[in-house]
Amino acid sequence: MSIVKGKHIILGVTGSIAAYKVAELARNLTLDGAIVDVIMTAAAQRFVGAATFQALTGRPVLDDMWALPEDGVVGHVSLGQHADLLVIAPATANTIARLAAGLCDDLLTTTALATSAPILIAPAMNPHMYEHPATQANIALLRQRGVTILEPAYGRMAEPVIGRGRLPEPAIIEAEIRALLGRTCGPLRGRRVVVTAGGTHEPIDPVRFIGNRASGRMGYAIAAAARDRGASVTLISGPATAQPPAAVTLIRVETALDMQREVVSAIASADLLIMNAAVADFRPATASEHKIKKGDDEELTIRLVRNPDILASIAHRRDLVKIGFAAETHDLLTYAHEKLERKGLDMIVANEAVASIGAEDIQMILIDAQGVERLPQLPKPVAAERLLDAIIERFAARLRAPEIGSMTTEE
Ligand code: C5P
Repeated sequence: MSIVKGKHIILGVTGSIAAYKVAELARNLTLDGAIVDVIMTAAAQRFVGAATFQALTGRPVLDDMWALPEDGVVGHVSLGQHADLLVIAPATANTIARLAAGLCDDLLTTTALATSAPILIAPAMNPHMYEHPATQANIALLRQRGVTILEPAYGRMAEPVIGRGRLPEPAIIEAEIRALLGRTCGPLRGRRVVVTAGGTHEPIDPVRFIGNRASGRMGYAIAAAARDRGASVTLISGPATAQPPAAVTLIRVETALDMQREVVSAIASADLLIMNAAVADFRPATASEHKIKKGDDEELTIRLVRNPDILASIAHRRDLVKIGFAAETHDLLTYAHEKLERKGLDMIVANEAVASIGAEDIQMILIDAQGVERLPQLPKPVAAERLLDAIIERFAARLRAPEIGSMTTEE
């Protein structure tokens, strides 16, 4: 289930030309099941009409501190108190300054002051205004108080200036919202998860390599699903064509040996490793320093040597929950069972190699000490959600964060 479903999100929109971009954010969150209340400042309404957000969220846009609801309860305070998250995007230098000063002279700043929900701010402004020491000091102060503030993107502004000040893409803001909600109430909050994805490139010479068709789609979806459940995610990705998720720590690698080094370092403090990468079993014994010329040769022999088996090399880490993948073209279950044993895994995800590598969908068979569960053919993002839920359920004692409110010292 999506982490935003049923959550009450307040979206504060302030006076920046980037205001039109968050219409898409309001729409996506609403379609995903969130209750989105939009608060617009007076300046925001000069850029985008309230009717746009009203139509997209199906709820009235709020802008007046003095418009008391019919029951007479002080609306501007109760709004913030019932929220799961306050997002301010785009946030102008002026709004950031007013938040840092603790002012509460409009509905948005009052709500920010009255809420105990996490606050996420996505600044957007002229690059000189962003870099100004006053703005930087305000941002540092808000961060110190626990507010999450995204870095604006670098690029061309509405006026003919290039610099850092653009609103991050709505997809990035959405990923940060999911991560923040996950860290507040997701079952993996406080846990560290390492995911590997993509393939590897084993160099033959400076321009050629041995590789495979892995797209990264499955591993990236797994990393996003772990992030949405509250985990701090390190995604170690070999070469891949898919778009990696935001709000995770992304480490890019080329070869199996690079991947082994990064996995060993990342798992030192991890609770869960999901090894989805299609790691090359062999690499050229030596990579030629110069581009290999064909000359008059009719044949070329490249001697291959074995790559280390990353999972098998960390079999001694019994405390770490370890999940492997087995993509096979035949005798799927036999090979998968053998790998579960030999690599010392807690679970292996068997799948048919030709159908799943590089594809949009996957049909997974989950195999662990308890037995075999076949899942239907699913789009990879949906399959990743199902996989994470199965892992959390099966290894709850080692992974699940305590229920909120049950962290008590009483016997
Ligand atoms: O042995 P095979 O490559 O089929 O095993 C697949 C599983 O082992 C995957 O989880 C893959 O990421 C992992 N693997 C590994 N090191 C290798 C090759 C595969 O950890 N050198």
